[in-house]
Parts: sequence; structure tokens; C-alpha cells
Amino acid sequence: MKKIIIGNLKSYLNSKETLELLSKIDSSDELILAPSPPFLALAKHKFPKFNLASQDVSAISNSFGASTGEAPSDMLKNIGINYSIIGHSERRTANLDNEKSIGQKISNCLNSGITPIICIGESKEERENGSYIDKIGSQIKEIIPKEKEDIIIAYEPIWAIGTGLIPSLEEIEEVASYIIESTKSLDNNVFLVYGGSVNEKNAQDIANIAGIDGLLIGKASTDSDKLSAIIEVVNSR
Ligand code: PGA
Repeated sequence: MKKIIIGNLKSYLNSKETLELLSKIDSSDELILAPSPPFLALAKHKFPKFNLASQDVSAISNSFGASTGEAPSDMLKNIGINYSIIGHSERRTANLDNEKSIGQKISNCLNSGITPIICIGESKEERENGSYIDKIGSQIKEIIPKEKEDIIIAYEPIWAIGTGLIPSLEEIEEVASYIIESTKSLDNNVFLVYGGSVNEKNAQDIANIAGIDGLLIGKASTDSDKLSAIIEVVNSR
């Protein structure tokens, strides 16, 4: 199976740059791009073949109706969005998301037929004091749905996001095998991706780690040359 590549464009690019990026990359089943919210519908309209993800979804409501300023999952589905990033640490840190809202968002997505890309991972302190496995275990227990659905779990150590710091391959493998073991008894199909300071130089080694089905890439995915290089090395194993 080819590796899944998810590009989280965060709030880096303007509308012109977003469309330029998409025009320089080939769409494929395994590539999922998450443009900034104001450009999501435009990107889908101009590039209907691309798998696009929202960077968030409404916790309040999954359907059309009286919810001001929300992006309900039915509405995302209505414009052809099939994936949604949920619980990214940048949103958790800014107090925009917590385990309760994340759980609600996941269930809204599943009700609308959107595959959630659920972000989990430990802080620097938790890594250093050795409690990272406990942290990941409790996140899995609290938010990973149990029903039979496709879900993507993104293991993103918070301290590796946007820092250039990256766990060793062995450290990633340890967590990957723990996540696989702890989700084995659930009915759903879990795909596991790694995210945090992935670039064109380290992508191949990380993607080759046992149990890793793909990569979630932030900054490097906003540069078409880097993103193309990552797609190429990851699939040339
Ligand atoms: P980064 O971001 O690749 O820029 O570290 C990854 C992420 O936040 O998903």
C-alpha cells in the first residue's frame, strides 16, 4: 500500500499561493491537503480531483441550521470534503479544543461520512519525565471512537511540531507499536501517520518505520518542490 501524505497548510498561504501549490502537485488517492478554512471551498471547486481536508470542524452541530460561524461536518461533506484534521495541538494549546469538543467533532465527522484525522501526542515535559506512553494511552482511551469506521491517527509529539526537533526512529517506532497494540481490539480501521518537523530529508526514513502508514506535514507541505520531493521519496521505497 502506498503511504498516506497529509499536507496541513495551516495559515501559511494566501488564496493565490494555495491555488498555485495545488496546480503544481498531482492529485492521488493517498495525498490529502488541508488548505486554510477560507480557501477550502475555492480549492475544492478549482481542483475537484484532490482529496481535501478541513483543518477543523464544528463541535456544536453536524448539520445545516442555526449555528453562526460554524463549519458543520454535513456542510463540509456537501462541498466534497472527505477528511478533517481534529485536535491539532495548535488548537489544543490555544484552548480552542479539549477532549470533550474533540470527541464531539469526531462523532460529527463520522455521522457525516468524513474520515477524522485525529491528532495525539505528548509535550516535551511528558517526553522527558517518561510519562509519554501514559499520555498517549489516555488520549486513545478518551477520544478514539470504537465503532467500525476508517480513522486516521496522527502521532504528533507537540515538541516536534514546527521546531525542527524530531524523535529518533526508535522512539517513533515505540509509540507506533503502542498505538497499534492499544487500538487492535477496536472494531475500526486505524491508519497511523507521524507528524512533526517532517521534511524532504527525513521523510523516507520515518515513512519506513514499522506500523507507520504515512506522514502529516506542516510547513514543508506549503512548498511545492519540497512536497513533491517528499511524495517521491516516500513512494520510491
Ligand atoms: P510541521 O507541522 O511539519 O511544520 O512541524 C506539523 C503539524 O503541525 O502537523
